[in-house]
Amino acid sequence: MKIEAIRTDFPILNTGVIYLDSAATSLTPEPVLDAVLDYYRDYNANVGRGVYRLARMASQRYEAARSKVAEGIGAKTQELIFTKNTTEAINIVASGMGLKKGDKVITSVWEHHSNLLPWIRAKNELGMDLVVVKPSTESSEAKLEASDFDAVIDKKTKLVAITHVSNALGSLMPVEEIASICEDNNALLLLDAAQSVPHMRINVKALGCDFLAFSGHKMLGPTGIGGLYIKAEHMAGTEPLTVGGGTVEDASFVDYQLKSGYEEFESGTPNIAGAIGLSAAVAYLEEIGLDKVKSWEAKLAKRLIEGLQDIPGIKLYGYDSSDAFRIGVVSFNLEGRTPNEVALLLDKEASIAVRSGHHCCIPLMDYLGPGAEGTVRASVYLYNTEEEVERFLAVLARISKGG
Ligand SMILES: Cc1ncc(COP(=O)(O)O)c(C=O)c1O
Repeated sequence: MKIEAIRTDFPILNTGVIYLDSAATSLTPEPVLDAVLDYYRDYNANVGRGVYRLARMASQRYEAARSKVAEGIGAKTQELIFTKNTTEAINIVASGMGLKKGDKVITSVWEHHSNLLPWIRAKNELGMDLVVVKPSTESSEAKLEASDFDAVIDKKTKLVAITHVSNALGSLMPVEEIASICEDNNALLLLDAAQSVPHMRINVKALGCDFLAFSGHKMLGPTGIGGLYIKAEHMAGTEPLTVGGGTVEDASFVDYQLKSGYEEFESGTPNIAGAIGLSAAVAYLEEIGLDKVKSWEAKLAKRLIEGLQDIPGIKLYGYDSSDAFRIGVVSFNLEGRTPNEVALLLDKEASIAVRSGHHCCIPLMDYLGPGAEGTVRASVYLYNTEEEVERFLAVLARISKGG
């Protein structure tokens, strides 16, 4: 990859920041900024409503964005709903898939609050059972195996809702194996793909999932836009989270009839510029090649791990030397310093931005030991360089010595 050329597309890098927090939100390249501004400058109109030229143009670009983003994850255009983000996408499924008392949902100890709280709420409100799968062996690697899911799945299980990649640990879930366990047990599979869609080639059909949620802002797109893939056969059986304008086939003062398919889910004026910006982000990633992005990140992650292992007092979380592949997310703590102290020192000394805290995974942090104080997390993306990783390691080594 031509990293230096890529970096010129990200104006924020001119500030001198060493940005190692892409798992929280990614930086935004010029073509995405242009796509958003072009909408506001050249064809700013609402979608799916007006018949005049600008409105037709906006609607056409908005629907073209849907096709582009759907194609990017191997879905049909009609199987993609635009949402605010991953969180909203998961909430749509939790409240809309018709769960009831006697049903069972399985999730895991790795989950982000956004793939845990909706299920806890559904359990409290609807009375279904919720099982949280933990690793069979307790360790700071917290590795989950497909067999851990096989052990708890049964005929009552309606859904397995799991993350594809842990945002706190960077570990990968064996999703293909879990998908086949789901199929054998007639259970549906929801993947929280917030941390995978930005970093690897995703094909919902090959993965064998029924629902897949992701966020634009983690994949070079704007904030406030995300997506939910709903396999065609589940579309009619899923209720929208909200109802209102833009989704109506017919309405009276006492009743209404919604449009069918994806159109019934996006009530109110959608994030038009966001969707168009997200499709520009997909195009940008495709032009570089997601396979190249994946292998570049794996290379940086390998060096991060090696370097961290050489610093006295560092404890890594979620790292397993037997893993064939690692995403560019590394979680650790430094003895004698809180995660926030480490993050503040890295920022103060070298403008290095890392995340510190519980990473919206308090139950996982409790399970692993650090509790809500959490860990330090460094995460890389296509614009990070080997030099930045070396600088981070050198500054951290100095901090570890009290310098
Ligand atoms: C694995 C995972 N799931 C869900 C989310 C929530 O994403 P959003 O805040 O965009 O809804 C995140 C964000 O960090 C995440 O990493």
